[in-house]
Amino acid sequence: MIAKPRTALVDAIGQRFGKEFGGAAPRWFFAPGRINLVGAHLDYSGGDVLPMAVDRGIFAAARLRTDGRIRLVSIDQQLRVDADAATMPARTRPEWGWAGYPIGVWRGFRERTGKGDGVEIVFGGDVPMASGLSSSAALEVVTAIALDALHDTQLERHQLALLAHRAETGFVGVRCGIMDQFASALGRAGQVLLLHCAGPRWEHVPFDPEACEVLVMDTLKPRALAKTGFNERVAQCATAHELLRTHVRDLPHLAQYTVADLEQAREAMDELLFRRARHVVGEMDRIRAGVEALRHHDYKTLGAMLDASHRSTATDYDVSCDELDVITDAARAAPDVFGARLTGAGFGGCAIALVRPGASGAVAERVAEVFSRRFGVRPTFDLLRVGTGPGELGS
Ligand code: GLA
Repeated sequence: MIAKPRTALVDAIGQRFGKEFGGAAPRWFFAPGRINLVGAHLDYSGGDVLPMAVDRGIFAAARLRTDGRIRLVSIDQQLRVDADAATMPARTRPEWGWAGYPIGVWRGFRERTGKGDGVEIVFGGDVPMASGLSSSAALEVVTAIALDALHDTQLERHQLALLAHRAETGFVGVRCGIMDQFASALGRAGQVLLLHCAGPRWEHVPFDPEACEVLVMDTLKPRALAKTGFNERVAQCATAHELLRTHVRDLPHLAQYTVADLEQAREAMDELLFRRARHVVGEMDRIRAGVEALRHHDYKTLGAMLDASHRSTATDYDVSCDELDVITDAARAAPDVFGARLTGAGFGGCAIALVRPGASGAVAERVAEVFSRRFGVRPTFDLLRVGTGPGELGS
């Protein structure tokens, strides 16, 4: 069990729980958000990714109910939802908003385990919402962990990750890959996750917080196009894969092809699909180099892979924007920065910079100056550390 932190956030969740539901004390759970070091947009193409579960995420105070109601409250969002377990639809409802994620997990959990009791949960988070740090995956995973513990079903962590992923794709309808839910569910202290999405298979690789810290830079640009743009990239990769299968050779995943394969299929693909596929294939090389570097404690080379990854997501994959390009360029120009790239799906939101420990304040100052001169907006910064992973919180 993880010790329950004594913070204003946890106090606020506890108070709200008492006010909404009263009665005996709830049980407490936590699931982290994530940043992804390298491996941008590879998970849904069967590639490898290298996410780190961070020391921020979503907390939940939870208790089962006997009346078949699912009552969800978030202290960060206005909405409170009261749903009926007996009349659960197959898809979320627009009026449920953010609660579609936990309700989708509840539904998948009932399908998998046959346990369909009602539940009451108050959520609260210290990971910024909708910025590319996977607050939604953390919300799903914390729900899955809570249901598993409250029912004592003892599912494996990767099974909880899959439940969480299905809630997002099947119930909410975002065609995301498995990275975010696996990163949150399988996070471990002092380690990053090397996830081979084609299996899926995974291993943990040590990350040294003494060698390098992660500065998160929020452009404050809303990710307005993220959903449509994301689903469009998924569809383009599927088409590119189909063309490679018919024109070159039949491999199960786009990420398994080589540059030579792409050249062979060049005639059959239009220029846009070619660039999308080139990002995927090139990013696989970058992740191999990035993991090697991490294993050898070479944060300089790891940083160079972040830079190259950003370039490719900007030019070949077209998921960057001026704000993300300017903020990462400004970070790279500062001393003590190993590398920088956008994080999450892109289209706005946050970028990360790997920075020599102790230098983040000065880097943030320089970046803020350059960015506000250009856009008239001061970005916000956060220093994230590799977290302890998810779990139940003891008192
Ligand atoms: C989002 C998706 C992930 C992944 C990333 C891009 O975060 O939810 O599955 O595709 O974008 O790497």
